[in-house]
Amino acid sequence: MSNEHNEQNNSDGKTLTNRQGHPVTNNQNVRTVGSRGPTTLENYDFLEKISHFDRERIPERVVHARGAGAHGYFEAYGTVGDEPISKYTRAKLFQERGKQTPVFVRFSTVVHGGNSPETLRDPRGFAVKFYTEDGNWDLVGNNLKIFFIRDPLKFPDMVHAFKPDPVTNIQDPERMFDFLCHQPESAHMITFLFSPWGIPANYREMQGSGVHAYKWVNEEGKGVLVKYHWEPKQGIKNLAQKDADAIQAKNFNHATQDLYEAIEKGDYPEWELYVQIMEDGEHPELDFDPLDPTKLWYKEDYPWLPVGKMVLNKNPENYFAEVEQVAFGTGVLVDGLDFSDDKLLQGRTFSYSDTQRYRVGSNYLQLPINKPKKHVASNQEGGQMDYRTEFGKDQNPHVNYEPSLIGGLKEAKNPGKEHEPYIAGNLVRETISRENNFGQAGETYRRFNDWERNELISNLVGALSNCRKEIQDRMVEIFTQCDEDYGKRVREGLEKGMKDNKMEEAVQEAEKMGHPSDPY
Ligand code: HEM
Repeated sequence: MSNEHNEQNNSDGKTLTNRQGHPVTNNQNVRTVGSRGPTTLENYDFLEKISHFDRERIPERVVHARGAGAHGYFEAYGTVGDEPISKYTRAKLFQERGKQTPVFVRFSTVVHGGNSPETLRDPRGFAVKFYTEDGNWDLVGNNLKIFFIRDPLKFPDMVHAFKPDPVTNIQDPERMFDFLCHQPESAHMITFLFSPWGIPANYREMQGSGVHAYKWVNEEGKGVLVKYHWEPKQGIKNLAQKDADAIQAKNFNHATQDLYEAIEKGDYPEWELYVQIMEDGEHPELDFDPLDPTKLWYKEDYPWLPVGKMVLNKNPENYFAEVEQVAFGTGVLVDGLDFSDDKLLQGRTFSYSDTQRYRVGSNYLQLPINKPKKHVASNQEGGQMDYRTEFGKDQNPHVNYEPSLIGGLKEAKNPGKEHEPYIAGNLVRETISRENNFGQAGETYRRFNDWERNELISNLVGALSNCRKEIQDRMVEIFTQCDEDYGKRVREGLEKGMKDNKMEEAVQEAEKMGHPSDPY
C-alpha cells in the first residue's frame, strides 16, 4: 500500500492507526520468521498494542466502584423559597433565575466491585460536578440522607467489615454486624438500609442528599448551615428484597441500562434541588448536634426550599474516559459555599483528592471530564502526564511563581467579605456530647409504613441469623433502645428462625400498597 493512499485514508478519520499516528496496514498477523513463527522483537505495532492493553485498567474506586454517569445542566431559580438567594449565598450559579450550569453526574453502588449487580442492598452514590463560571463545585452525596458513622477515623474499618472477607472473598453479614454492634450511632442508617430504602429501584427514581451540613456564605461574609437534597421528578421507587432478587436473576446492569436507555430515547430524568437552612451555631435547644451526619433535620422543623432543578440529557461518549476517570471531592467548592465543622466531612475532604492522585494520577484535574470549563492558570506544574495546553493569558512564561514584579499570575480580588467563624477549644479525642443515637432511628421505624417495617424486620432477621448469638443480642439491644417493638420483632424473628410465614404474608400484602412517599 502506498504512503499516498495511507495519508488519504488517515486524514478521513476512519483509517486504523497506532498511537503514533502510523496507519496500520495489517491488524491480523504479527510479524514472524516464516508463517509458522517465531515472532520477532521489532514488532513495534504488536508490542505497542499488547502493552497498552496490559495497562487498560486503573485501580477501581476503593468504594463506589460500580457506577453510571450522565451529562446535563442545572438551572437556578434565583430564590430560596420566597426569598432572594443572595440573602444567604453569593455563589454565582444560584443567583439568576434560569441561569444554566453544565453538570456531570455519577451514580453508584458502594461496597462491591466494578461489575457487581446493581440490585444489592447498599447506599447509592449521587455525585454531581457543576462546571460553574467560578470553577468546579462537587456535591458528593448519597441517596440516603444520613450516614453510618460520624468520625472519619472509623471509615476504613467500616469499609473492611462491609467488603468481602480477606480470606474467603465473600461478603459476610457477621463481619458487618460485628463492626456495627459496636457503633450505636449507625442504628439510624441500618434502619434505612435494611428497609426497602436500601434498594432503590434504579437511579432515576431515587433521591440524593449531601448528608452533611455545609455552609452558605453571603456578600457580608455571614454563614448559615445548609443541607442539600435532590428530589426526583420521576417519583421515588424502592424494592422489596424478593423483587430485587428477581431482577438480579436476569440482569445485573439494570440501573445503568435504565438510565442509559431513558436518556437515549429523550426521556430526560430531572431532580429538583432543595436546601434546608439552619442558623450557624451549636443549637443547644436541639436534642442532636446539627453537625452530626447520622441525623435528619426534619422537614417539619427545617422546610425543604427549592433552589433549582437538574436535567440529565446526554449519555457519556466513552465510559472509561468519563465515568471511570471522573473525580469528585467534598473539598471542591466555589465562592459562596463553605464547609461546616462536621468531622466526617473534613475527613472525606482529604480522602478524595488523595485517592484520585493514586487512582487516576497526579494530573487527574487536566482530564477533560475533570477540568473546569473556565480558564485555569496555575503555577502548579510537572508530574506524570502533564499535558496542559493553556497558560495564563499574557503571563510571562518564565515566571512560574507568585508574587512577582516581572509578569507572573496575580491573586484574584476577594469577591466578598471572608467568612471568619471564631473557633476555640482544647485539642481532644472525644465524641460529640449530644449523641442521641436511638431517638431518630426509633422515629424512622415508626414513620415507616407497614410494608417498609415488615421488610426491615425480615431483612434484618435474615442477615442477623448468620451471626453468632453475642452479635445478635447486641443488635437487638440497640433496636430495643430505638423502639421497643422494633427490638421485640427482631428478637422474635431470630427466635422463630425465619419460619414465620406471617411476616412473609405481611410483606406481600403491604407491597400492594405501592411506593413510599418521603416523610423524612
Ligand atoms: C467515593 C472516602 C463518606 C459518598 C469515595 C472514595 C473514597 C471515599 C476514597 C473513592 C473516590 C474516588 O476514587 O474517586 C470516604 C470517606 C468517608 C466517606 C473517607 C468518611 C470519612 C461518604 C459519605 C458519602 C460518600 C458520608 C455521602 C454523603 C461517596 C460517593 C462516592 C464516594 C458518592 C463516589 C464518587 C464517584 O462517583 O466517583 N469515598 N467516603 N462518602 N463517596 Fe465517600
